Amino acid sequence: ARGNGAVDACPAHAAAGSGNAAMGGCPVSPQAAAFDPFSPAYLANPAEALKWSREQEPVFYNPELGYWVVSLYDDVKAVFRDNITFSPSIALERVVPPSEAALATLKRYNYAMNRTLVNEDEPAHMERRRALMDHFLPANLAQKEPMIRRLTREKVDAFIDNGRVDLVEAMLWEIPLTVALHFLGVPKEDMDRLKEFSVAHTVNTWGKPSPEQQLHVAESVGRFWQYAGQVLDKMRQEPDGQGWMHQAIRKNAEIPDVVTDSYLHSMMMAIIVAGHETTALASTNALKLLLSNRLVWERICNDPALIPNAVEECLRLEGSVVAWRRQATRDTEIAGIAIPKDAKLLIVSASANHDPRHFENSDFLDIYRDSAAEHLTFGYGSHQCMGKNFARLEMRIFIEELCRRLPHMRLVEGQQFTYLPNLAFRGPQKLEVEWDPANNPERTDPAIVEREISFPVGAPTSKEITRSVRVAEISVAADGIKLLRLEDPDGLPLPAWTPGAHIDLVLGAFSRKYSLCGDPSASDYTIAVLREENGRGGSQFIHEELRPGMTVRLRGPKNYFRLEEQAGRHVLIAGGIGITPIVAMADRLKQIGADYVVHYCGRSRGAMALADRLIADHGEHAVLHVSDESGRADLAAIICDCGEDVRVHACGPQRLLDALARLCADRPEGMLKSERFTTDVGGMALEGDTSFEIELEDSNLTLTVPAGETLLDVVRAAGIDVPSDCEEGLCGSCEVRVLEGGVDHRDRVLSTAERAEGGRMMACCSRSAGGMLRLAL
Ligand code: HEM
Ligand code: FES
Repeated sequence: ARGNGAVDACPAHAAAGSGNAAMGGCPVSPQAAAFDPFSPAYLANPAEALKWSREQEPVFYNPELGYWVVSLYDDVKAVFRDNITFSPSIALERVVPPSEAALATLKRYNYAMNRTLVNEDEPAHMERRRALMDHFLPANLAQKEPMIRRLTREKVDAFIDNGRVDLVEAMLWEIPLTVALHFLGVPKEDMDRLKEFSVAHTVNTWGKPSPEQQLHVAESVGRFWQYAGQVLDKMRQEPDGQGWMHQAIRKNAEIPDVVTDSYLHSMMMAIIVAGHETTALASTNALKLLLSNRLVWERICNDPALIPNAVEECLRLEGSVVAWRRQATRDTEIAGIAIPKDAKLLIVSASANHDPRHFENSDFLDIYRDSAAEHLTFGYGSHQCMGKNFARLEMRIFIEELCRRLPHMRLVEGQQFTYLPNLAFRGPQKLEVEWDPANNPERTDPAIVEREISFPVGAPTSKEITRSVRVAEISVAADGIKLLRLEDPDGLPLPAWTPGAHIDLVLGAFSRKYSLCGDPSASDYTIAVLREENGRGGSQFIHEELRPGMTVRLRGPKNYFRLEEQAGRHVLIAGGIGITPIVAMADRLKQIGADYVVHYCGRSRGAMALADRLIADHGEHAVLHVSDESGRADLAAIICDCGEDVRVHACGPQRLLDALARLCADRPEGMLKSERFTTDVGGMALEGDTSFEIELEDSNLTLTVPAGETLLDVVRAAGIDVPSDCEEGLCGSCEVRVLEGGVDHRDRVLSTAERAEGGRMMACCSRSAGGMLRLAL
């Protein structure tokens, strides 16, 4: 083994014990031994190059590199999360040890790159991170938007009439650098010199330079180090400077043990690269990916509201940081594989982001994917990228400006994409695009130039992820009930769904849930909409204004009411419009040959939508209870008949569900699953709520949740991404792990047993039951 830090005997061999000798040699598999992160195939597509690892050997040792490689989502996240067992101290260490000659060159420049934030251990790291967090908070970042937009417009103005440009050279490299320098408070510099410096820093840290290259790189890195020192000295002369580095300089004077002298100089050099190269490469990757998927590009041009989630999906599929490094501080395990103390780990986020165990259809670009922001491109836990929302802001603006002003732009065909060989950063060095300037939209409508759309700072919430569909058909299903068939405007199949799933129809400022009741394998969706006289107006709008051919927006499908297929017998109970999910469940039970019965309760036959279809498709399995013909259904008798192996799924008005809950109270937990369309819990706080403290274990933060705010709001405002969906305690997507403290559960996700077990809560609605809560966030 020749790599830095590698030992002569293979540590996989040593860790596995002497038994391996009997097996006749080193247990490093041929694929693990052949792994080469500098090979053209890996540089071009690291996720694809590690597919074998995800499938066969998710944690392996590579003797050449001297690193253990981790490739699955859960494992990479677990390593990021535990920065005590897996120290970040080697994050900026040179992958290839420098030659004597290179070291001598660096010495001439007094090069002494040391700890910054990203490679600092606790407790020093967190103290420093907290002291320097302010500038990164969402409210402060939002103020940067006008500057980023102005810079972007100036660049686009300069090339919009050319018809062909390399986007990297024309804007994607320089704007993030200018923005980063402004953020830091560094005077705008000679861009070419900084480009040379940052490439040298990347190659020096994460590359595999030849001995000759090493000398050249050491020269540039030495000059970069010197330059960083000079800039720092200049900035020290401006005590009131506004940039982030000015703040660091002031903190250095106030709390020199926390923000040390050594930190200042090292950070000055590292942050210029961290703040701009990552963002420039991520923007290039994103535009390449979107322009290679023409239909997706056209969709976001037509509907810029899709941009924030498209950015997350691009960061997931083609992130600019593909791998990061950690070192084990003790003997430990990852996914059952023994990892010895001092082992060096290459945690490949690019592979984790393609892990099909975490992301369904993981290699597919799906800009509506609501888990896209769970990618690990920004790392995770207490070191998670402080600048993530800054990068998001920039990427969204670049894409939004280009979509609006150059929707007809295309990738130049046949261009070869090249990547700087290194372990961490990835993005093409050029991105050639072309268009016909005669078709620039602003030539016919100059107002387009100014028509900007801005997005709230931070990860997109699933509330913002909507798709447009066309109303294909409207028919009358019963008195006051219309059946709507919705289809993709471009004729593409809408995503598949399972019985019990619903969509949220977004109508102006509010949205309403409708269960899907058509054929799950069809490419379109069918919903039934009851006209509610006392509703918020959504159903009236649908009944009165909506016409075939019109476009509406929806979110989902989501399923909070899954059909539990495993049971000896199934009893389905629907009340009124609650028939919609139930009919889909009945179809499924029929399809799998299950033993089932459907009870459908309604006021009068004329008001019971889908009754004819139910009878036609389910015959004797369907029982109608029509109040004005034969009185109300005898629920007690229905439940009484249920044996131990029966599962009941029910959907309908609250009164019906409450009655069923009472009748099933002494039955086994989980026998009854029910859904109603509205919830009284809500994400909002209730009267009489008090504030409480939360301690976030992974991020090392203590926060207060005030009386009028939810835990989810507070955690997000601190820059921590927690996924959410319904924000009403219905879906379970905002679940967080509770390590300590009692919870006042207000969701409808956790069962009584799960609540009693403890350890979980829904951040959107539940609160502390009294004292402090310690959470695994
Ligand atoms: C840390 C990626 C943009 C500042 C990190 C880490 C990664 C990363 C992987 C290490 C995370 C960990 O150890 O858990 C990215 C990517 C970016 C980006 C992919 C662009 C798409 C930025 C920007 C800034 C920035 C624009 C600043 C203006 C930082 C800082 C840290 C960091 C200060 C250290 C945080 C700590 O250790 O506490 N970034 N970054 N990053 N990033 Fe970024
Ligand atoms: Fe759905 Fe919290 S977001 S339960």
